Amino acid sequence: MKRIKKKAVKCGWISGNGLLLLFLSLSLQAQEVTFNEHIAPIIHKNCTPCHRPGEVGPFSLITYQDVAKRAPFIQHVTSIRYMPPWKADPSFQTYQNERGLTQQEIDLIAQWVENGAPQGKAEATPTPPTFQENSQLLQAPDLVLTMQKPFSIPNDGTEEFRYFSIPTELPEDVFLKAIEFRPGNPQLVHHSRIMVDTSHLIRAIDGISETDPALARFQTIPLADEFLYGWVPGNLPVMYPAGTGKPLKKNSDLILNIHYAPSSVVAQDQSSVHLYFAKEPIDREVKTMTLRETDIINQPFVIPANEVKIFYMRSEPLAHPIELISVLPHMHTLGKSFRAFAITPAGEVVPLVKIDDWDFNWQSTYVFKELLTVPEGAVIYAEATYDNTASNPANPHVPPRDVTYGWNTTHEMMNLILYYVEAEHPVAQEK
Ligand code: HEC
Repeated sequence: MKRIKKKAVKCGWISGNGLLLLFLSLSLQAQEVTFNEHIAPIIHKNCTPCHRPGEVGPFSLITYQDVAKRAPFIQHVTSIRYMPPWKADPSFQTYQNERGLTQQEIDLIAQWVENGAPQGKAEATPTPPTFQENSQLLQAPDLVLTMQKPFSIPNDGTEEFRYFSIPTELPEDVFLKAIEFRPGNPQLVHHSRIMVDTSHLIRAIDGISETDPALARFQTIPLADEFLYGWVPGNLPVMYPAGTGKPLKKNSDLILNIHYAPSSVVAQDQSSVHLYFAKEPIDREVKTMTLRETDIINQPFVIPANEVKIFYMRSEPLAHPIELISVLPHMHTLGKSFRAFAITPAGEVVPLVKIDDWDFNWQSTYVFKELLTVPEGAVIYAEATYDNTASNPANPHVPPRDVTYGWNTTHEMMNLILYYVEAEHPVAQEK
């Protein structure tokens, strides 16, 4: 990488005065990389969308003061590529919603911090970017559904996993263009999964904990959609491509599974789901294909205590060609790595996603840059590694225990969730 050149200090007459020379050369370097000219555009583009009031970042990164007082910390989290968060290996597949700094941007931040984090000329002060309040999208939603009552997050410092039911009371079937989850308490809502039920037999789940024995009964009721949408901090809403939409049946109930981070004070949460309806004619339905534990080839799905295990799963050969919109891998805390790809009948490999250091806290829907065609007869494969040893710091069991399938976070899952449209069989819009 090419560093910004330090200007040579040509001050022969003071060369005897080392201290003054050092001072001069430092101040000259400092003029070169400034917040106003070089650092603010990087921060505003890559950090401020999450680090602003009401969003998930724990503090704002907007003004010079916000950034300068955390300069060494920012240098650290950017140099190790912890921020901005992005887990998928960009050399395997690239995405529309990709985040990340270039090595040059990382080096520029480091150089700025090492030079004392100067602000730069007042007249170069940049205007902070503008955002929509309480949204990552620019348009207003068509329907806002809010948890029926606030949930009181206890102050006992333990994680909470709760289920909620929100009736949509939709008078007719709709096609969705986008779904946005809005945490009521962005500091404590850790992640959320939205499912759809049309039986209305799951309404009593509202407010119950994952540890409640009543959960087992609800789990036996088949869901209309097991995975309408999944949210983690910073996961942007997926906008479905033109002419496509996700169907939602009239009078559906949304079932939310929300994970709350531990808190030392009692706090409230009343999260919302924003729905955006299709306004244009929809000729292709967004469908969900889920590869799950039953698709595992090397059964049974048991991760014995003190073992590292790899599972492989595969789909049936595709009956029709499809066009993929996005991919979302899902595991719990024992997960270590995940890889998914398709193999076409001609033997060609279509890379889908590769994550080498799985982090339960940073799960994302990876949206392909363009619809990704997978031909008829192709098979989708996924492989996932789980570490159930004591050396996995995320292991919820001390000492490790045998772990098998379950919704609870102390159990495990292996899912690959694909949003797609059929390549050749458009559906007529119901009107
Ligand atoms: C997708 C949303 C998102 C983006 C984009 C983002 N952050 Fe963060 N950041 C978070 C969240 C959430 C946390 C708190 C959780 C954590 O520390 O992992 C956080 C934590 C941090 C922390 C504290 C880390 C710690 O260990 O306490 C720093 C420093 C930080 N971010 C800097 C940045 C910088 C600099 C950028 C841009 C280069 C950035 N963030 C981009 C969401 C984001």
